[in-house]
Amino acid sequence: MRRPPGPRDGVIAGVGAYEADRPGYLAAGTARFGDVWQVVPRIHFAAGLDATRQVLRRTGEEFEPPRGTFALPRRARREDEAVEAARIRTLRHHRVGRHAGTLAIGAAELAESWPRGTEAEALPRLAAASARMAACYHFGPDAAELMHGEEELAELRATLGPRYVHLPGWVPAPSRLRVRRAQHHLAARIRRVIDRRAGAAPYGTSGGDVLDELMRTCDDNGVNPRVYLPFRMVTAMVAAREMVGPAAGWVLAALAENPRWAERVAAEAEAVLPCPDDVDGAVLSRLTSANAFVRETLRLYPPNWLLSRVVARPVQVGGYDLQPGERVMVSPYLLHRDPRYFPDADVFDPERWLRPANGPGSGAYLPYGAGPRTCPGASLASVELVLIAAFMARRHLVRRHSLTPTTWGTYRPSGLTVLCRPRDLREAAGC
Ligand code: HEM
Repeated sequence: MRRPPGPRDGVIAGVGAYEADRPGYLAAGTARFGDVWQVVPRIHFAAGLDATRQVLRRTGEEFEPPRGTFALPRRARREDEAVEAARIRTLRHHRVGRHAGTLAIGAAELAESWPRGTEAEALPRLAAASARMAACYHFGPDAAELMHGEEELAELRATLGPRYVHLPGWVPAPSRLRVRRAQHHLAARIRRVIDRRAGAAPYGTSGGDVLDELMRTCDDNGVNPRVYLPFRMVTAMVAAREMVGPAAGWVLAALAENPRWAERVAAEAEAVLPCPDDVDGAVLSRLTSANAFVRETLRLYPPNWLLSRVVARPVQVGGYDLQPGERVMVSPYLLHRDPRYFPDADVFDPERWLRPANGPGSGAYLPYGAGPRTCPGASLASVELVLIAAFMARRHLVRRHSLTPTTWGTYRPSGLTVLCRPRDLREAAGC
């Protein structure tokens, strides 16, 4: 049996160095030991495209996802399958494009309400805006009443932070119970909306939002929407805030750091964007610079920077034998900064996404993961981010003040504050 190599200088030293700089520690280990190595006993890191792809794509076979935030049952009962497929469809690109106006209204409101001439803390605003955009997309006119429950849940999860993430799933800690209670509150609010809409059939009166579509599919397939939908929709709301929020923070920081690109995104937005209501798939397809800008931001700053799997069956990765129960981590962050796959990997260059030869065809671009657990919200998230970039750049000159990158849970620009000034000189002069 060939076991992965790893540091011999003691587990404790390794853990200390890892906690001090996680991506740096993993990059240094990969440089020293190769693409597959043991970080601490029974926990391995797999770098490089082949190993990363194998671990993610073979999930459900030799690997299982760890129990965690998004641990939804993947194998639906037969009668649930149609609803599950519909749920995934409601997040697909063409569907998001058709309803992009809802998201554009949220992005425009964010840009219009952003304070000017003063340093503003960015992440709370961006997280709240992302959550509202996703809630409007899913629940249409009922979004506002659900935001109270969503905010309660978000506050609890934020205060618990890393402690919550690292507690084993079976520990009935008070912190975890409080979060569960808040999840149940939000699910109960969603159930009330479902009951109200069920009493007002035929559905479709709320403008054909996601909930309407899913309730119809539940009806058609004999599935009880009160049971099937609420917790799945809670998960979508959590992801919208906790993933899109930090990603939008990186987008804002990138606008501040790359004024020439900010200029280009702003000019394109000025030429392309109609009233927010009228934004649709065709408009989105013309926001090519904003799109490349967001892609590049997610390449260098992927919020879900480290993914983890549990080995389910004996398996070889990179020529080394791994045993059931051991863990393997893979990192989109390190893959995206690997010069084997991205020339000038450390340089922020959205142009690379406008040259097809260097585009995502290499398969090494994985901000949304890969394989059977790939992110179902990828299109929704990307459209939200493109619209935030376009509306913010068009209205403001964004200047970064400060941020501290952190890798607890998500990779985020903690404490990001930005200073915005009017982009339009006539507006700045009060004309
Ligand atoms: C920029 C924003 C986002 C990023 C970077 C992101 C990234 C990811 C990644 C990398 C995974 C795979 C995790 C793994 O393989 O272990 C994932 C899973 C998931 N994401 Fe996202 N995500 C984002 C936004 C969203 C949104 C808006 C939603 C919901 C509407 C969402 C819902 C989910 C769900 C439900 C899963 C679990 C899928 C499964 O296990 O089958 N995500 N996300």
